[in-house]
Amino acid sequence: MTLSDRREMPTVYEPAEDSRLLADAIIDRIDADERVLEVGTGSGYVAARVSEETGARVVGSDINPEACRRAREEGLEAVRGNLTDPFRRNSFDVVCFNPPYLPTPPEQEWDDPLEHALSGGEDGRRLIRPFLADVGRILRPDGRVYLLVSSLTDIDAVAKLADDAGMETREIAEESFPFERLVTLEITHRNS
Ligand SMILES: C[S@@+](CC[C@H](N)C(=O)[O-])C[C@H]1O[C@@H](n2cnc3c(N)ncnc32)[C@H](O)[C@@H]1O
Repeated sequence: MTLSDRREMPTVYEPAEDSRLLADAIIDRIDADERVLEVGTGSGYVAARVSEETGARVVGSDINPEACRRAREEGLEAVRGNLTDPFRRNSFDVVCFNPPYLPTPPEQEWDDPLEHALSGGEDGRRLIRPFLADVGRILRPDGRVYLLVSSLTDIDAVAKLADDAGMETREIAEESFPFERLVTLEITHRNS
């Protein structure tokens, strides 16, 4: 690969079917007076749609500084950080996340921003695991998490991780493709 090839490679995840499925599923479930966080905002597509179509106040976050820059260019508030780490207890009514979920063997991992946008480690749940373990902390008692998952990521195993964190899960949208089924999960505190 030449240096100019490398410069032309995208460094931010471009919106795809998963981004659209997540945005379409959640727009009608968010009220204008709610505070929303999109973890892993990438280009800011989902966050911008939520902001424009619901009137809610939306913050995006991403580990990739280029993604934060892109989101800010879209007029969004963006915070660089790992998953839910930068945020305080009980801060959000809604947290949404289209995570890197593709199961990827270690020998196929690359250390670049696009790989970090796609790879979910060997079982596809590398980022989902710590996200679900902590998201209840930053969510208000009656808040909702909207998580995009794939059949490649083992949706029952994801629901079990939510259960382990004291939360319950239901499917609110799905779409099937030749190699996977994409699902949007709504996850809430168990007693909300
Ligand atoms: C599949 S992309 C989704 C991008 C965008 N939300 C969308 O739906 O088009 C996953 C995003 O998660 C971000 N990401 C990966 N690891 C992260 C981490 N530890 N903390 C925060 N964001 C992370 C990636 O940089 C990428 O922008």
